[in-house]
Amino acid sequence: FATVSVLVPAAGQGTRLGRGPKAFVRVGGRTLLEWVLAAFAWADEVRVALPPGVPPPPAAANVRFVPGGAERQESVARLLEGAGGDVVLVHDAARPFVVPAVVDRLLAAVAGSGAAVPVVPLPDTLIEPEEGRYGPALDRSRYALVQTPQAFFREVLAEAHQLARAEGRTATDEAQLVRALGYPVELVPGDRRMFKVTFPEDLALAEALARVWEE
Ligand code: C5P
Repeated sequence: FATVSVLVPAAGQGTRLGRGPKAFVRVGGRTLLEWVLAAFAWADEVRVALPPGVPPPPAAANVRFVPGGAERQESVARLLEGAGGDVVLVHDAARPFVVPAVVDRLLAAVAGSGAAVPVVPLPDTLIEPEEGRYGPALDRSRYALVQTPQAFFREVLAEAHQLARAEGRTATDEAQLVRALGYPVELVPGDRRMFKVTFPEDLALAEALARVWEE
C-alpha cells in the first residue's frame, strides 16, 4: 500500500477494570496506550481517541489525539474523520500485545479483499444459560472470537460508518458494520496474546506476558 493509518479507540472509562481510564493503566512499566503506540511506530499515522478531559500524553510525531465519543463506535467515527491512509487498522488500546505476524497477515489479506480481521477459536464450552441454570450448548467449533487490529480500505470503513449512522445501527466492532454493507470480511488467524485487558484478573496475565514480550 501507499499508506497505513492506525486508529486507536482509547476513550473507554475502564469500568469493568476499575482502575480509571483503561488506556492509562500500566503493565510492565508502561501504559496500555504506550504499548500500542510502540507496536505501531512504523505506521504512517496513528490517531488516538482519548476520554474527554484527559490531556494528550507526550507521543511521537506520527501520533495525533482526538476527543473520543460516548460509545466506541463514535470514537472510531471521529478517528476516521481526517484519517489519510489507503488502509486503516482499527486497534483497541485495551490490547497491549500486538503480534507482528498477525499484522502481516492482515495487511496481506486486506490488499486482496478490502477487509480482514483476526479470529481465535473458543477454548471453553459455550452455552446459553437459562435463568441461571445450564442451558443448551452451542457447537463451539462453529464460532470464533474476534480480535483487533481490524484492517480495511479506508473508503470501505468510511462508507460502513456512514450507513450505520444513517440507519442508527451500532456494533461492538468495525467488521460488523462493513459486513452490513454487504462487503465480505476475510478472517485470518489471530493470536491469544492479543487478548483484551477487560477484567481485573487480566492485569496479572498481562504483567506476566509483559515480562517475556520481545518486540
Ligand atoms: O469497553 P471495551 O473494552 O469493549 O472497549 C474497547 C476499546 O474501545 C477500548 O480500547 C476503549 O478505550 C475504547 N472505547 C472508546 N470510546 C468509548 C468506549 C470505548 O474509544 N466511548
